Amino acid sequence: MNIEEQVLLRIKPTLEEAEIIKDIVTELFDRVKVAAKEFEIPGIEPKLVGSAARGTWISGTHDLDIFISFPEDASREELEEHGLMIAREVSKDAEYVEERYAEHPYMNMQYQGFDVDIVPCFAVDRASNIKSAVDRTPFHNEFIKENINGREDEVLLLKQFMKGTGVYGSELRTQGFSGYLTELLTLNYGSFKEVIANACDWRPGTIIDLKSHGTIKHDEPLSVIDPTDPKRNVAAALSIDRFAGFIDICRSYTEEPAMHYFFPEPEKPLDDMEIENLLNERKSSFVAIVFKAPDVVDDILYPQLDKMKSGVRALLEENEFTVLNSITWAGEDAVVLMELLSSRLPEVKKHQGPPVWVRSHAQAFKSKYESTDGVFSFYVENGYYVADIKRKFATAKDLLEGRINTCALGKQITLAVNEGFRILVDREICNIEDEDFRISMRKWNKIL
Ligand code: UTP
Ligand code: MN
Repeated sequence: MNIEEQVLLRIKPTLEEAEIIKDIVTELFDRVKVAAKEFEIPGIEPKLVGSAARGTWISGTHDLDIFISFPEDASREELEEHGLMIAREVSKDAEYVEERYAEHPYMNMQYQGFDVDIVPCFAVDRASNIKSAVDRTPFHNEFIKENINGREDEVLLLKQFMKGTGVYGSELRTQGFSGYLTELLTLNYGSFKEVIANACDWRPGTIIDLKSHGTIKHDEPLSVIDPTDPKRNVAAALSIDRFAGFIDICRSYTEEPAMHYFFPEPEKPLDDMEIENLLNERKSSFVAIVFKAPDVVDDILYPQLDKMKSGVRALLEENEFTVLNSITWAGEDAVVLMELLSSRLPEVKKHQGPPVWVRSHAQAFKSKYESTDGVFSFYVENGYYVADIKRKFATAKDLLEGRINTCALGKQITLAVNEGFRILVDREICNIEDEDFRISMRKWNKIL
């Protein structure tokens, strides 16, 4: 049996599993209808969407996307209010319930072991006439069901390959490939193997336009025009690094296919000794900013951490610290970890003034810096005055402690950082004991 056949044995849902899903969905649909009747809400219709409806779910991932479709002329207020009333009633016997907010409120629950989303949407006539972003989803369903033609297994392989290599998921945390995107790629190229083979030669600006809509976006790494809504790029969330990383992984897999692409060995946390070795070998400096992670959803947290990472990097570089690379991590605490060429700079800092021939400026500069305390030397270089002065922040730690507030940080992170933060340098990062953080450190600077 080849690798792909072995993978399918592990991920292809069994008929029993499909039966169980069918029963639960019937039960949930009944509950929706009963609730709607009880509250006298007419014209609604429950729909199963997502991978469970298309036969493209990975066996054992118990995720059900149930939409409650409202008449198109319902108001947003009606949809939100009535949608939640029905969802609350349906979730009465759930093991766990949480009301969540995307563009409008929806319900997430654990129901008989399934992770169920109940999402209200508008029954619009076309995907290009949507009133809310989720209204497209039922059209995706129809399109995939009509066109998949027995290629579900190919989608499953691609999904598992992307999960195993860490590029699956269109959330802002991952910025990778969504489920619908794996389905469209499979339809476009025909099979898992063909997707992989073609992706080896992708370049930024690659366009996939299944229905020849001709709507083109050149500014994104990959444009997959939504067959149900020509204005939409299904790959809009894909970042350039996920895109390029996927190309690299496809090439390696083509050279030598292996099981670990689909089912990677779990990584071990880096231990203190390994951190010490890393520092001794690289002889660079590691600086971590540690603070309590704000209690917000991932789609808010991760973009803010990214923003913080670039803000802190800019602050360091303005002050002549060279950043080699950096990662962010969040658990109980949040961490921005940077590797610097050095976290300590000399006391002296070169400060350039105006050209000598710009007389008034030049004289003002000279009287300020010549023979002042703390100025090491004063001279002319390439026609300009230069003062070698004493550096205000000679260590990255002092700089961050003194100036982190000047970085543009997101709202929740600003609040969290104002509550308090720690700067850890070199071996002090061993104080961060969280295993998941230590695993992130091991994966740092690796493609796979
Ligand atoms: P899911 O994220 O549950 O994806 O969104 P999925 O296709 O069911 O894949 P898995 O197997 O659970 O991982 C459900 C549907 O919502 C729409 C798609 O139509 C998707 O199939 N959707 C979701 C989007 O259009 N965009 C998104 O970013 C997310
Ligand atoms: Mn799903």
